[in-house]
Amino acid sequence: MSRPLEAPSLQTLCDDLTAELTRDPRGRKVAALLAEYAAHCDCWAEHAHFDRAEYTRNLIHKNAHYELLLLCWEAGQASPIHNHMEQHCWMAVVEGVVEEVQFRRVADGAPLQEGRTTALERGGVAYIHDDIALHLVRSGAGARGASLHLYARPYATCLVYDRETGAEERKALVYHSLDGRRLESPVDAGSV
Ligand code: SIN
Repeated sequence: MSRPLEAPSLQTLCDDLTAELTRDPRGRKVAALLAEYAAHCDCWAEHAHFDRAEYTRNLIHKNAHYELLLLCWEAGQASPIHNHMEQHCWMAVVEGVVEEVQFRRVADGAPLQEGRTTALERGGVAYIHDDIALHLVRSGAGARGASLHLYARPYATCLVYDRETGAEERKALVYHSLDGRRLESPVDAGSV
């Protein structure tokens, strides 16, 4: 039976993502599911917490197969250059413009080589894996933005890289809100 022509709720999206990633850990339909949701839905807004001090990582749903976060970017905010611990990562923009800049390690001690920059608007989806590149994500167009990020499977630390030397360092990842509730201080992603 075909679905009614209405915007999928976050619950529907999470159910569909769970079904897809249980069936296919590579998640070949994930990009289409995120694109449809990102283009038509606004209920992500109950998870939005912008902060002028840092971009925020807001947990929407987590299970053994994936975690789905809303990342909120004030104008000018960016992530460090980082890897994805061999996991699959999709990003779908729901507000504003969000940019991805890719990087490659070329030699020990050498500066990272900058690759392509992609600017995504609402409904745009990007995919990355460590086999493709390292990257940073940032707000674009001089304004705030928000993006859904799906990591399959979830991970609680990643490696961040110095652009000039390529040196890497392990970083613990955090959540700034859970189920839409802003936390007084961020919690370790590994503790949830
Ligand atoms: C992050 O997870 O904090 C950075 C954005 C990403 O790589 O998806």
